[in-house]
Amino acid sequence: MADLEGNLNAKNFHTETPTPDYGFHVKGASHLDFGMKRRLSRIFQADGRTVMLAFDHGYFQGPTRGLERVDLNIVPLGPWADALMGTRGIFRSSFPADGNMPLVVRASGGPSILRELSDEHVALDMADAVRLDSSAVAVQVFVGGEHESRSIQNMTTLVDQGMKVGIPVLGVTAVGKNLVRDSRYLGLATRMIAELGAQMVKTYYCEQDFEEVVAGCPVPVIVAGGKKLPVPEALDMAYRSIQAGAAGLDMGRNIFQRQSPSAMIQAVRGVVHDGLNVAEAVEQYRELSGGLTD
Ligand code: R5P
Repeated sequence: MADLEGNLNAKNFHTETPTPDYGFHVKGASHLDFGMKRRLSRIFQADGRTVMLAFDHGYFQGPTRGLERVDLNIVPLGPWADALMGTRGIFRSSFPADGNMPLVVRASGGPSILRELSDEHVALDMADAVRLDSSAVAVQVFVGGEHESRSIQNMTTLVDQGMKVGIPVLGVTAVGKNLVRDSRYLGLATRMIAELGAQMVKTYYCEQDFEEVVAGCPVPVIVAGGKKLPVPEALDMAYRSIQAGAAGLDMGRNIFQRQSPSAMIQAVRGVVHDGLNVAEAVEQYRELSGGLTD
């Protein structure tokens, strides 16, 4: 029976008390199998954090600005990313096969931006994820969306298949136009994704109580970038996310739509891995880009 009152009253997240790691650096992953841990260790550095570069937007919206030529715009950024998030079509067609970058491969899809986006299906066989040398697969979950239940089933199907071959699943909270990105909604979506088996969750940042979203989610929370923001605002969001306990960023447009994407991804790394504050990261962007501000 639904307990909406209990949901509204959930407040004791003990945000000041870190989750025990039980001897493994990735949150909630200490009891997983060896192969799964190896793959998670490629994505999450020894500090338990990651900078993922997301460029899978074409799977539902075609050639987005900055992604017109992935071979020219994205491939050169690889050395600064801890993991690359894209589609199998782009990895196979546009990336060199001799690199060892961890790949997080899009595994759901179906509708284009012209249709109802929650109408997705599983769009990748786990055997092909293995052939691609995937370190993880990613699936969209539309909590509160028209096809909520099917999107959950897409995820649990991939989790079950992934458990068989040691490939972790990144559950992505897809927030529909009519839903509010507040801590209650994001807390609901991230917790559902983790409880139903995903080994990591991608979600949006929210100003209020984001630390409660993170504390209430037993696996790593990775923050999506969203639409391009001014440099200081994007780095501020990255900083606040990390301060709230997020395990990293999975940014796309805020990196590849910049005048200097390479400077931006390095500034984000500074925040995630090197403890830079916002002013230091903004200065790093300015220096590395040769004085650019956008
Ligand atoms: C959409 O759901 C895709 O997973 C994108 O990869 C994701 O939104 C991250 O890209 P951006 O930082 O541009 O929002």
